[in-house]
Amino acid sequence: MQTISFKIASKNIQGHFGSVKDFLLQFSQTSKPIVLTESKLYPFFSRFLDGYEVIQIEGGEQHKIQATADFVISELMRLNADKSCTIIGMGGGVITDLAGYVAAVYKRGVKLILVPTSLLAMVDASIGGKNGVNIGHHKNMVGTIYQPDQIVFDIELLKTLPENEWENGFAEIIKHAVIADAAMFDWLKNNSLEYFVNDTIALEALVLKNVKLKFSIVQLDEHDRGERKKLNFGHTIGHAIENLYELPHGHAVAIGMVKESILSDKIKGRDASISIQIDELLCRYGLPVTCALNNSDVWHLIQSDKKKNGGSIDLIAVDAIGSSRVERMDMDRFFRFFNETDK
Ligand code: GLY
Repeated sequence: MQTISFKIASKNIQGHFGSVKDFLLQFSQTSKPIVLTESKLYPFFSRFLDGYEVIQIEGGEQHKIQATADFVISELMRLNADKSCTIIGMGGGVITDLAGYVAAVYKRGVKLILVPTSLLAMVDASIGGKNGVNIGHHKNMVGTIYQPDQIVFDIELLKTLPENEWENGFAEIIKHAVIADAAMFDWLKNNSLEYFVNDTIALEALVLKNVKLKFSIVQLDEHDRGERKKLNFGHTIGHAIENLYELPHGHAVAIGMVKESILSDKIKGRDASISIQIDELLCRYGLPVTCALNNSDVWHLIQSDKKKNGGSIDLIAVDAIGSSRVERMDMDRFFRFFNETDK
């Protein structure tokens, strides 16, 4: 097992790259953790979890709500979990977000270990401490930023992922490439989803690159005041359409990235070469780049987006592949361009 330490503010987060089974065997000897997982995933992991208390919940965005967090908290109380307990969130982004949220608020904060089991959770959701629950169609309306103590990245867990889960993960990987890493963009362009699914060494290298990239951004700006906002590329429109049209997160973000990059092109008055490159790469990885939207419904949700501030919102402007900037934009102007964008 390879361990890399990532320092965020005053916290040292250990990232372990290797077998979760070995990690859990060692860990159970020293502490009494409580695992939070999805009932659908539990049969896959139950063999690693002998001797652990396990709280199971239903998966899916519709369960990432305050009522589920309350249920988990009442289970922790039933198990007499005290302030020294450790919560292990084992699952995709819904589980890592809920585990983080509950760990942050239970007894005003307990230890947290995340074991992301989807590609999306490995390269994005498990890193950076953002957590939360949805309120109606509004994504992550309530939550905190609370860093885990440890994260376990076990590539073997990805082997059983269905195809749409791979696509979801690649949406965030492509986002990273677009905003900050032109060489990774070329690497992705010269390969395919099938190549990474079948080549464990390449996949490990890709996950490690993305984990380091995301940590490097969060290290600069844990609280989303500047540099970290770049990670919201595609998410302003993506979050609005995700719950409204019940799209998988990666699909919504892919459509959001195309729309937001077209907006960047329009605002800059330049040709569409950047948005076309993004569109082509997303298609190469099986992601949708457009869908029929009701602009006024989408706009209604964008108006209550966390990123909106008074009459303006932060748009991530892509200057070139691998280079982006946060640009404050007047909401009226954003709405005008949004309505004009036909894709
Ligand atoms: N997923 C965006 C962020 O962590 O900031």
